[in-house]
Amino acid sequence: MTDQKRDPASTTAPQESKLGPTGRPLREFPTPPALREHGPARIIALCNQKGGVGKTTTTINLGATLAEYGRRVLAIDFDPQGALSAGLGVQTHDVPTIYDLLLSRGIEPADAIQHTAVANFDVIPANIDLSAAEVHLVTEVAREQILAGVLRKVSADYDVILIDCQPSLGLLTVNALTASHGVVIPLECEYFALRGVALLIETIDKVRDRLNPAITLDGILATMYDSRTLHSREVLERVVDAFGDRVLETVITRTVKFPDATVAATPITEFAPEHQASKAYRQLARELVFRGAVA
Ligand SMILES: Nc1ncnc2c1ncn2[C@@H]1O[C@H](COP(=O)(O)OP(=O)(O)OP(=O)(O)O)[C@@H](O)[C@H]1O
Ligand SMILES: [Mg+2]
Repeated sequence: MTDQKRDPASTTAPQESKLGPTGRPLREFPTPPALREHGPARIIALCNQKGGVGKTTTTINLGATLAEYGRRVLAIDFDPQGALSAGLGVQTHDVPTIYDLLLSRGIEPADAIQHTAVANFDVIPANIDLSAAEVHLVTEVAREQILAGVLRKVSADYDVILIDCQPSLGLLTVNALTASHGVVIPLECEYFALRGVALLIETIDKVRDRLNPAITLDGILATMYDSRTLHSREVLERVVDAFGDRVLETVITRTVKFPDATVAATPITEFAPEHQASKAYRQLARELVFRGAVA
């Protein structure tokens, strides 16, 4: 007769917790505690040889949100297109750039660092000069390690250095991977997104074998996700099938606010601080701290 005494609610299955877009339970990552000391920086390359997947947008907005959490952030524009510099509204002409530092033209990294409008967030700019770097570096001794040497000089002043790579797997990107402790791969939720990722991971593995044994994959970040389309959901499902926990739980949704913020040359977190996309990048910053990718 005990059955009749049972509370009917207790016989129902436990309520399933709400799942996020990557199929794991949705959760909030804790707000990172303030740092009492700063540096040395952990260096993270934002890398994908596919163009237009959100590398620069992620560098800008992850940098801005980590800075909001009191981290000292330096972003390196490592693309001759200079989109990161433009997106942060800094000078790129008649100023020292990352190219001058790579070629050690008698300037120090401190001479090339510019402050952005966001406190704690600095940048070393690039311009089209950088497109000549691969040709110049090819004949250098230890040509893959030049950027690492440059960043060693500023590492003590920052908690995190983000490198915005260009869409290629050439010598500049190999320099970025050689200089980095971790890699974040932004991946657009589009068909063919997975094409090329195997080659990128192979490149990271080669860099680990030959140049930088400590490099780790910090995570794959799904970008431009549109939950309303089956297409986007299917792509994300396949990405999770292929990469499991390496896919970050934070997913960046597609929104026109990003192009708008780009035009305004400011992070979306400054342009529209309460927008869902700003919240997503704050969540990304918290997730990376939670995972130990950032102090
Ligand atoms: N989540 C998003 N929703 C909508 N548009 C976005 C989103 N993220 C980035 N964009 C826009 O898509 C374009 C490409 O983004 P971004 O420049 O960040 O990519 P990228 O990987 O750095 O490109 P490239 O390989 O050319 O350097 C930009 O116009 C940007 O404003
Ligand atoms: Mg870019």
